[in-house]
Amino acid sequence: MRTHLATELVNVEIGTEIKVAGWVDSHRDHGGVVFIDLRDKSGLIQLVLDPEDSGESHKLGHEIRDEFVIIAKGYVRSRGEGLENPKLETGKIEVVIQNLEIENRSKPLPFTLGDKNVNEEIQLRYRYLQLRDKEALETFRLRSKMAITARNVLDKLGFLEVETPILTKSTPEGARDYLVPSRVHGGEFYALPQSPQLFKQLLMVGGFDRYFQIAKCFRDEDLRADRQPEFTQIDVEMSFCDQEDVIGVAEELLSGIFSEAGISVQTPFQRMGYSEAMEKYGSDKPDLRFGMEMVEVIDLFADSTNAIFSEIAKDEKSNRIKALKVPNGDKLFSRKAIKELEKFVSKFGAKGLGYFQMREDGLKGPLLKFMSEESIAGLISRTELEIGDIVFFGAGKKKTIWDYMGRLRLEVAKRLELLHDSKYEFLWVVDFPMFEKDDDGTVKALHHPFTMPKNTEVSDVEEIESIAYDIVLNGVELGGGSIRIHKEETQKKIFELLGISDEEADEKFGFLVEALQFGAPPHGGFAIGFDRLVMLLTKQDSIRDVIAFPKTQKAQCLLTSAPDEVANEQLKELNIRLREKKQ
Ligand code: AMO
Repeated sequence: MRTHLATELVNVEIGTEIKVAGWVDSHRDHGGVVFIDLRDKSGLIQLVLDPEDSGESHKLGHEIRDEFVIIAKGYVRSRGEGLENPKLETGKIEVVIQNLEIENRSKPLPFTLGDKNVNEEIQLRYRYLQLRDKEALETFRLRSKMAITARNVLDKLGFLEVETPILTKSTPEGARDYLVPSRVHGGEFYALPQSPQLFKQLLMVGGFDRYFQIAKCFRDEDLRADRQPEFTQIDVEMSFCDQEDVIGVAEELLSGIFSEAGISVQTPFQRMGYSEAMEKYGSDKPDLRFGMEMVEVIDLFADSTNAIFSEIAKDEKSNRIKALKVPNGDKLFSRKAIKELEKFVSKFGAKGLGYFQMREDGLKGPLLKFMSEESIAGLISRTELEIGDIVFFGAGKKKTIWDYMGRLRLEVAKRLELLHDSKYEFLWVVDFPMFEKDDDGTVKALHHPFTMPKNTEVSDVEEIESIAYDIVLNGVELGGGSIRIHKEETQKKIFELLGISDEEADEKFGFLVEALQFGAPPHGGFAIGFDRLVMLLTKQDSIRDVIAFPKTQKAQCLLTSAPDEVANEQLKELNIRLREKKQ
């Protein structure tokens, strides 16, 4: 239907006859002459309907409206001097239309393309219109290139792309499953995979040696700006490898993808142990685009005359008193700023927020009166306090302190505009604990129960470390992986420590444990959240911007109205009777 894309016309000789097709991006009817900006996937070209040159087609010009689909035949001409548009790639030329066809008409759009202030519900209801915007097209062009690069890099490294089932059994990644009822087996359900974890391990037992998949995963969990119920992973597994081999592949993959996006990254990436990350940054996904490490000062509060602080300081194993120094933090000196930060941390369990301010006229802060001169001197020297700095203190149970002081660090960085989005700070967080205990003492796997422990001969399960690693970029958990258990005895031991009975293990993962009895090779792998990766590379704030047809915060597709009720007949076939509808 066309000879050229809009922007290809810049390479065409003046006077050449061409045919273009696309949407009316805008039009101007100047009485006699009608100007149309035609848009296609490449960009814009100005078309001109001239009463003299365009013949019969000229009449159609008055019917033209924005977003009509048109096909235009004509010839390329230079725009006259002074009429060029330097903002447009094709701004030096235009097409004089000789024949115009209106291929399809359009109702007025419910919003202006590219307008970011439109209610999101309306945008998602008409997602296909939102996708017409140039920025969206650029995002998906990059997404496509990144997927192709991932395939090429992994193919070169000898990985085989294999599709694993979508209708399957539950895979434990810590979220709720999406279930699909079986018609043939009334009362039974498939689960959609939370990840291809178990199948990729089985492919290793199957001798495939190196597998990958750009895999759809499904998790019924609370949604946030970087979470969707249905998302994509670049999922990788390999045999006869150790942690270094897996990390090497992940780094090659990520640097390949980044270089496709025009960004060169240095490998190997930095590494940090889990406990160092928690102690210094209060997070297992530290943002290293800026410094501000937390310093432990619990010992300096032992002699505090404040009973709360001195009590906390008695138990150095369970408690922490962290100091967070903000260099040049004088913007935070005002009462208002301090109050706002206090309110911020109170949402995460802080009962107050102690601080020192080093002003021109000396040290100020509510904690001073509770401390000996010696301790104050210790705090100043440990935090290397200088004029203009402010130090915040958090005291209490270690998990609470890590959490809210880590969040405070990020909040302060945001306020001081330290989070530059053109900086890419990769970090491997390694040496994760194998388990964590809930407040009620329940033991849970920090990654998943198929992760290889470093040892199991310790008195406290929380001390068992695993061969697991997460890749973090600018404070976002981009992916994670581990070396897996490949021996049946170890796998059984882990189930036992997790309080999973033999029957339950057999019922849920019997097929995996059985496979481990047939010569399973040592293996390991990782998965990278592909949507999150695209989000970071395109600097979008929401994961919804990088998914063609995303779901809302409430897991709905507003375009198709999914999820939806189904006919009684369908339910009957599935042997399902509904209780009262939940609102
Ligand atoms: P994990 O559960 O850490 O590991 O997932 C890997 C990565 O997937 C992304 N991700 C998500 N992205 C968008 N929406 C979600 N709801 C969502 N949940 C997770 C994150 C995360 O880091 N089987 C293991 C990997 C392995 O051990 O090989 C797994 O799935 O970026």
